[in-house]
Parts: sequence; structure tokens; C-alpha cells
Amino acid sequence: MSDNGKNFGMMTRALHSGWKNDPATGASGLPVYITSAYQFKSTEHAARLFSLSEEGYIYSRLSNPTVSAFEEGLNSLEGGSGCVSLSSGQSAFTHLIAALCSSGDNMVVSKKIYGGTLTLLQNVFSRFGINTILVDSDHPCQVEQAINDETRGIITETIGNPIMNVAPLEALARIAKRQGVPLIIDNTFASPVLCRPIEWGANAVIHSTTKYISGNGNVIGGAIIDGGNFDWSAYPDKFPGIAKPDPAYHNIVFAEKFGNSALYAKLHMAMVRDLGGCQSPFDAYLLHLSLGTLPLRMERHSRNALETAQFLERHPSVEWVRYPGLSSHPQNDMAKVYLKGGCGGMIAFSVKGGIEAGKKFIEALDLIGHMANLGDSRTIVIHPASTTHSQLTPQQREAAGIGEGLIRLSVGLEDIDDIIEDLSAALSSASV
Ligand SMILES: Cc1ncc(COP(=O)(O)O)c(C=O)c1O
Repeated sequence: MSDNGKNFGMMTRALHSGWKNDPATGASGLPVYITSAYQFKSTEHAARLFSLSEEGYIYSRLSNPTVSAFEEGLNSLEGGSGCVSLSSGQSAFTHLIAALCSSGDNMVVSKKIYGGTLTLLQNVFSRFGINTILVDSDHPCQVEQAINDETRGIITETIGNPIMNVAPLEALARIAKRQGVPLIIDNTFASPVLCRPIEWGANAVIHSTTKYISGNGNVIGGAIIDGGNFDWSAYPDKFPGIAKPDPAYHNIVFAEKFGNSALYAKLHMAMVRDLGGCQSPFDAYLLHLSLGTLPLRMERHSRNALETAQFLERHPSVEWVRYPGLSSHPQNDMAKVYLKGGCGGMIAFSVKGGIEAGKKFIEALDLIGHMANLGDSRTIVIHPASTTHSQLTPQQREAAGIGEGLIRLSVGLEDIDDIIEDLSAALSSASV
């Protein structure tokens, strides 16, 4: 889509960005370019593509037209300067951290985020000398105090998985700017429909596109969106891979050659080439298709989840409920600012009677699925302490606020009465 200077709305961009009819055939559907490589026109053409003096396709680990269409679509929704889509959310974090950090550097990271991200940082990157400094990012002053000369970024989630804390985006962005490090926001739970972190000052956005972006539970994917608003060239010693000549890429200086798309270019041209976590064209096709309905789905997820959270809060067998749209949520005021389009489909709650009652509840569900995913159009539950966050130590789980009884509910798009009926029947079976 070319917007011809028009400021199209979210739904229009979701439907039109990234693809408009095949110029060769007129086909309106996005083709799935199932190819590993692309025919060069001549040896000079091949050399020009390899030296970046001409744009074009070389090899599908580096780029692919179907993947590019999805990347353009998601980038348009997040309002970035470029998007790189990868084979998973984990892969997105791997490529981003590898682009920003060297041995001896560290990331300042919220302790209330997805367990897999913490495990990747603390068990894998730590072995390469990249350290993690855990903080409670709900308290921005803790974040600022933790930053030192070796810090290369602040990482948190718009809405934390699974305890549903809302990130103080503007305060974190101010700190990041003052300290000369990028603010990296995992926007998986909110999606760009409910929150666009770049508008609040974030410098890079991450997604597990496996979740709401797909919505159909049929893709594993990840994405990084460059905010285009970080001055890499001001910090050449901190970010030599972006702001100094890169010997792995003809000594180009990404910050000079690509300006506000420097991070995107570094990720796209160097990191995906070297680490190889590229997205499959077929999965990019499915994700591009899903993008078209994302605004509608997020509206319905948010509506269904608010009603579900209110039902749970009233239920005598429920101990507590955390949903940013409830006035009882400690950051409900912040949710009203940052999550204007609704608070999404995720709820955390606990059933009275502890872990045993929680297990009984999950096993008594009929319509609602029990699986390790979220953001699906179908409602899903999981028990994080024994699954998604089980690699963390009990102390780490406690620090992250993940009690043994916490149940994570991903509210889908079904008729609300059916969701509530299933929850109600399972709560009755579990009641102590
Ligand atoms: C918030 C968040 N970020 C990242 C990831 C990792 O994504 P993936 O499973 O696509 O690798 C997940 C997975 O659950 C997640 O919930």
C-alpha cells in the first residue's frame, strides 16, 4: 500500500499494508514465494546486490518477498522504521541481543516477564559474558539505578506475562534517553492495536507473532520493529556493531548509511544473515493474512476479557484477579493511558484452595483448551508455575509475582456466555 501521504487508520493499514496486487498477474492475494534463491540478471547485478549498492533478492535466508510483505504490514501498524520477522519470539530476542551486546555488556531486564526470555538471557547469553541485571520495572528509579557503563538496553513487556503489570512506558523512555540506551518493549500481550510503544518513546519493539498477530494458533514467529528514534551514532563505543565500521559487512557504518533504520538494517542484513533465524514464507503468508483482522480481534478479545475478569472477580471461589481493565488493578490508571483501545485478552487469577483446586479447575474445563499458547482466537488456560515459568527457580518465580496458584487465562473470541458457562462449571467442580 502506498499511503500517498494519507494518515490511514489502523484497520485500513492492517488490511492494505505490505501488499497490493501482483504487478505481473494482477492477483490480489499475496503469493507465497517458495524459493531458496533468485536468478541474477548478470554477474555485475549479483555483485551489486551483494555490495548493497542495489536492492533486490539474493537468498531467502536474507529476504523473501512474502516475508517482506508481512514485515511491511507489521511495521506500518507499530509505526517503526523497519521490521524484521523471525522464526520465533525467542529468535527475535536472540537476534536483537546479539546485535546490541558483546561479552562484558549487560541488559537491564524486568523480572516480571515471560520465563523463556529470562531463561534465554540468564542461561544462554550469560555463557557468552552477556549479563542480566534484574529489576522491578514497575519502579523506574530501580531501573535507572541498575544501569551502568556496560548496559546496552532496558527490556520489559507492555503487559507482563503472566502477572499483568503495565509498563510505565514514558518514565522508562525518559530514563533510557537520559542514559543513552535503547528501551526495548515486548508488545506481545498488547499488540500494536492496543498500544504502540514507539509512540511513547520505546526504541525497539519485539513480538512473539505466534500469539495475537497470528491469532489462529498455527504459526511460530517473532518480529523486531526498529523505532527509528535512537541516535546510535552518538554512542559508537557502546554500539560498535551499528555505529562503527562493520568488518562483517564491507566496513559499512550502519548508523551512517541507513540513518533512522540503522538497527533494522543491522538486523536484516547482518544478524539474520549470520544467525539465520529467518521466517518461513508460508508462515509469513499466514501472518500477513491474520494481520488484516487483528484490530477486530483485539477489540473482541478486550471486550470478552473484561466481562470474564468482572465475572471472576465476583465469583466466591476466586481468590484474586489481575486484569488491567479492572479498577482493582494497581495500574488501572496507567492502563487507561497506554491501553486506550482496550486491555487485551489476558487475565491472571487464582482459585481458592491453592494449587490442588487450580488443577481440579483446569481439568474440569470443557470448551476452554489447556495448552502452552496464548492470543489464540480460542480461549486457553495454563498454570505458569509448572509450565511456562517452570525453568525459573522458586525464588525467581516469587520475585516475578508468580504464585503456585496463579492461572493464566487467554480469553478468545467465542460467545461470552459460553466462555463464562465453562468457567463457572469448572469453578463449581473445583470449589473447596
Ligand atoms: C511475552 C512473550 N514474549 C516472547 C515469547 C517467545 O515467543 P515464541 O514462543 O514465539 O518463541 C513468548 C512466548 O510465550 C511470550 O509470551
